[in-house]
Amino acid sequence: MFVLFIITLTFLTTTAYAAEPLTVTVDAASPGRSLSDDFYGIFFEEINHAGDGGLYAELIQNRSFEDARIPEGMTLDGNEVVGPNKGWRFKFDTTNQTPAWKLIPIEATATMSLDNTNSLNANNPTSLKICVDGLANNNIATVILENEGYHGVPVQADQEYRLTLWAKSDEITSLGAVIPKQEGTILAEGKITGITNEWKKFELTLKANETYTQGRLCLSIRNKGTLWLDDVSLFPVQTWKGRPNGLRPDLAEKLAELKPGFLRFPGGCIVEGCTLANAWRPTTTLGATESRPSRWILWNYRSTQGLGLHEYLQMSEDLGAAAMLVVNCGMACDFRDGGNVPLNELTPWIEEALNAIEYAIGATDTPYGKLRAEAGHPDPFPLKYVEIGNENWDDAAYRPRYQAFLTAMKAKYPQLLYISNIEIGGDESEIRDDHYYTDAKKMRQMEHRYDSEPRTGRTVYIGEYAVNQDNGNGMLRGALAEAAFLLGLERNADLVKMASFAPLFYNVNYSKWPINLIGFDNARNYAIPSYYVEKMLNDHRGDTVLTTTLANVPRSDGLDELTALAHFDSRSGEYILRVVNFADAPCEVNVEINGANIAAQDAWGVVLTSDRDTDENSIDQPNNVVPKEIRISVPGSSFKMTVEKFSLTVLRLKKENPAQ
Ligand code: AHR
Repeated sequence: MFVLFIITLTFLTTTAYAAEPLTVTVDAASPGRSLSDDFYGIFFEEINHAGDGGLYAELIQNRSFEDARIPEGMTLDGNEVVGPNKGWRFKFDTTNQTPAWKLIPIEATATMSLDNTNSLNANNPTSLKICVDGLANNNIATVILENEGYHGVPVQADQEYRLTLWAKSDEITSLGAVIPKQEGTILAEGKITGITNEWKKFELTLKANETYTQGRLCLSIRNKGTLWLDDVSLFPVQTWKGRPNGLRPDLAEKLAELKPGFLRFPGGCIVEGCTLANAWRPTTTLGATESRPSRWILWNYRSTQGLGLHEYLQMSEDLGAAAMLVVNCGMACDFRDGGNVPLNELTPWIEEALNAIEYAIGATDTPYGKLRAEAGHPDPFPLKYVEIGNENWDDAAYRPRYQAFLTAMKAKYPQLLYISNIEIGGDESEIRDDHYYTDAKKMRQMEHRYDSEPRTGRTVYIGEYAVNQDNGNGMLRGALAEAAFLLGLERNADLVKMASFAPLFYNVNYSKWPINLIGFDNARNYAIPSYYVEKMLNDHRGDTVLTTTLANVPRSDGLDELTALAHFDSRSGEYILRVVNFADAPCEVNVEINGANIAAQDAWGVVLTSDRDTDENSIDQPNNVVPKEIRISVPGSSFKMTVEKFSLTVLRLKKENPAQ
């Protein structure tokens, strides 16, 4: 009898439990937490050829012949370079002095070499010297200097390309310029004449008659003599928003589609440098491109700095995003060679940062504000945030440097918001930057990371996050884990003010980092599922985050299989529900929106899902995992919805009377 009672009780309990529906209850009667307008932003760093060979529209690789130079501040030891502080060392290729360039003598004898005795200017010390010693006496004899671009020089039919170069020679007065197709057809051609024995800039517009992605730029010489060349550039006339020295349109559009609240630049570790001598220095990136020094960056290549402070600020403005400038705080990357500026020698580093800020927002009668005006932008740029250092986590070294920078900057620019790398415990104008790179499970667990953090006035920015372990090349599984993490950040919107995935870009032919938001080659691009998560959450967000409670959520592997959060958008008068389902099965959810009259409607929304949570996109298959629109019939404030397996769903719900 007793056994029967236990069995019956167990049966009833199990049945009752199993029958309990998964319920999401939204408290629409209480005020909720306001979500910062800048919440979803982007993090740009020159890594994986994100800029040179990517977003920066230059088509010529190694345009100023500086790429073989060894990193600033390091010394060559055999086939490695070594840092001065900790002896940090890595391989450095010294076998090719002219990467991306090839000299092809046809029925001719000629050589090319680097020359530091005929410099274009002090910032661009290396030029290319070509000696043509012999040419057969026929119509074929030619010397061709060829640049391969970044895995091909791509051209589009009917588009114009501006070839500019600096040249000097006593004997060679003209150069042919051709973009050939591999089989020998000519896609575009022109001629440069009037070369003299003084450095002079030449410009030529080439118009392509066909679309071809594997082109080359070929400069041809048809007489004997010695020729020096420098700063050979091929730039599409059509850049994003028509900006000079501007951006590749398709990649910039990909960013614009995210509608980022802020643009963080220029990183990342490149701000710190492997050692201080190669740390990013904003004012060296200003002015005419041929006068900007190139700089080796710790992602193992030399950057042209063509994408410099002005271009980043212009990009922020064109994206409608607040600019977030990251400055070196007198500390190099401690993980690499490191090195800190002594505290009593910080002044030039602080001035460098102040000058960069002055360039962005200073009055036009200040030295750097004047430079900005002369560069065609008298109005201030939308600089709002300055981060002092990047990932400088050595508390004892960082704290006094942060304070020195902060004091100087706040005195001059109290209107800006300042970001620190570690917990400082500052006031409301200060923000702490936290970074997370982990696997999907840990990212999901971090949904509640900020729930119990004490509120002190100072706020938090998640400057870098990504599921980049056990996540292939960017799987749906990682993106859904990030979605849960982001809902956790939104839930803590009183504390967490901003977030950005990192890194942003990678050229599929030059990748250095495991998982990046947007991949591209020289003509195409694609986004990983994480991009669509960010886009969906940003496109469909309100200005208030509502208290949302879940009941009867199934668990597996110690984790909830579903999470959800609701917003209210006072601008459109809509409630917006975001739901993540990690399970390999659709899930029926009861939704109760308490304290609001939801109209009966065919609610529309967007869902990101796929057959397997391991599914990915790629450059050849960019649309495997992309959002699709959905309609769900909603009778009112209380309704049932079926959430697809492995999915993020956002659903927009109109109020019965939007005026209320
Ligand atoms: O996003 C790539 C790198 O990760 C960043 O440069 C650095 O800040 C972090 O360690």
